[in-house]
Amino acid sequence: MRSRPPRRSTGEPQPPALPARVTVRQVAAAAGVSTATVSRVMAGEGHVREALRRRVLDAATSLNYRPNRAARSLRVRRSLTVGVIIPDIQNFFFTGILRGIEHVLEREAFTFLLGNSDGRAERERVYLDTLQSEGAAGFIVVPSQREPDGYRDLQRAGLPVVTLDRAVRGLSADHVTVTNQEGVRAAVAHLIALGHRRIGYVGGPPGLNVARERLAGYEQALQEAHLPVDRALVHAGNFQQDGGLAAAHALMELPSPPTALFLANNLMTLGAYQALHERRLRIPRHVAVVGFDDMPWATALQPPLSAVAQPTFELGVAAAQLLLSRLSDPQRPFRRVVLETPLIVRGSCGANGRK
Ligand code: RIB
Repeated sequence: MRSRPPRRSTGEPQPPALPARVTVRQVAAAAGVSTATVSRVMAGEGHVREALRRRVLDAATSLNYRPNRAARSLRVRRSLTVGVIIPDIQNFFFTGILRGIEHVLEREAFTFLLGNSDGRAERERVYLDTLQSEGAAGFIVVPSQREPDGYRDLQRAGLPVVTLDRAVRGLSADHVTVTNQEGVRAAVAHLIALGHRRIGYVGGPPGLNVARERLAGYEQALQEAHLPVDRALVHAGNFQQDGGLAAAHALMELPSPPTALFLANNLMTLGAYQALHERRLRIPRHVAVVGFDDMPWATALQPPLSAVAQPTFELGVAAAQLLLSRLSDPQRPFRRVVLETPLIVRGSCGANGRK
């Protein structure tokens, strides 16, 4: 057997020699079980007595065993990677969703690869193609394509697609969303109960179902209070801070400006705060504010924001659970999960008498 050539000293620091990979066989020997038992324990499959399972896990830990994902992936003939695509990586609304997805996938030894579509259909298609070629087992998408064809092509290729938050008209797929319309209805009814009759509304980008549903909630609350919908008080926004800023300025320029504003997402709410501060208008004394999407630092705003909260972590958990369930049972019926959107009342709406 040839002796290994001495490592030539190049004067450069050499990368540390990689430790030999611990094998299933070594773990089995250390635990006193078969290699099949070790594989079942590592895969979380089949029934293994708790005492044996504990012996295997202790042995694996003491040997610093790392399952060979590529080998497992080949054995189970599927990828352990999921493609996740969101429309705005700078919007912290999506970080809670990603955390929820990760929480579920990690437990099942899955990982995800993230793509940012920037709200553009063609960019989303690039990511879907790339992640498919990277061997993604399925997809969780906050969709930016308006047509269902691209998603159907993936489904026909045996790759499940779970749509999250936003929906695609005409696509049959597992879907996770929230009570958009009811959330806005309850918030606007709350402002009406506080005495507001002229409530400005800054909505989402036309064409998004979440924008349509939230606007419907605004209109429903006014109709239920027998108040007219003054279209001069309704602005189509862009879900970005600059959109909320511009719309709030425009609304406050009206001959009869609103006494309250409702913004249909987190970033536009920040823009409205900025506009009202620029106009030296006090919240809620001069203008009450409620926004859709609570945010981690809503309590740090002056005054703290009243908001319709989306359970972002739970949205991610539900989407990941639907995808894994679909991978296990490709033929099961599609499911639609709808989570509640509680109104979190703080100082910005004036409910607690703060002026
Ligand atoms: O802030 C981003 C918005 O887009 C959220 O309201 C969420 O619903 C997404 O659709």
